[in-house]
Amino acid sequence: MRGQITRGILALLLATSLLLVPIRADDEEGVIDDDEYADVQRAHLIVRKFVKDELVVQGKNVTVEIDIYNSGLSTADAVKFQDVLPAEASLVEGSLEADLGKVSIGSHVKHSYVIVFNTGSVEVTLPTALVTYVSDSETNEVTEGASTAMALYVMTPVQQLQRYALQAGAYASLGFARTPSDWRNLAIIIGVVSSLLGGNWVVKKVQASNVNRKRAAALRELEKSD
Ligand SMILES: *[C@@H]1O[C@H](CO)[C@@H](O)[C@H](O)[C@H]1NC(C)=O
Repeated sequence: MRGQITRGILALLLATSLLLVPIRADDEEGVIDDDEYADVQRAHLIVRKFVKDELVVQGKNVTVEIDIYNSGLSTADAVKFQDVLPAEASLVEGSLEADLGKVSIGSHVKHSYVIVFNTGSVEVTLPTALVTYVSDSETNEVTEGASTAMALYVMTPVQQLQRYALQAGAYASLGFARTPSDWRNLAIIIGVVSSLLGGNWVVKKVQASNVNRKRAAALRELEKSD
């Protein structure tokens, strides 16, 4: 039985092996022009501001994460972070300001806080945060940088249920429901069923990461039987 399964997996892997071969360009050493960079011994911070999912729900906690990376050639000192909230949100945990101290070359510091959106059915752009730091310890030069911004869609709780239902419908109908009204009817049925069952299980099934996990498990199984 187990052998059969393994052979089945093997056949599947052979059939999909073209998809599994990573596409890799020839390794190439990065060439840095010394003349151009010789006099730039400064810290350079790259600031990424993001939330894990760009679809968030009104009234639910949303963690905003800030990742500050020093891509420069010197330690950044006296790193200060300062942020603002979008008008639709309020802060529930953490701080919009932080003294983050030093960030050495090639390393990250992270900061996060939690907000809640007070309105739904709106698109919101998280404003850029401001980061200041001493980029050159000899001259004490202070540099100012802005984070990335990120667009979010804030769903109302009802929209979230509808989304679950639609995802469940797309999965369960296996493509039979093609027109919007087919979808709607399925969505209503499945939405009711899945919310009775606690809502989340169908959505979790749909997630592509499951497929990837299964594929990884199949690969491990194959390696074992070699
Ligand atoms: C939302 O954040 C607040 C503040 O940290 C916390 O007290 C609350 O338990 C959180 N709610 C959920 C559902 O995680």
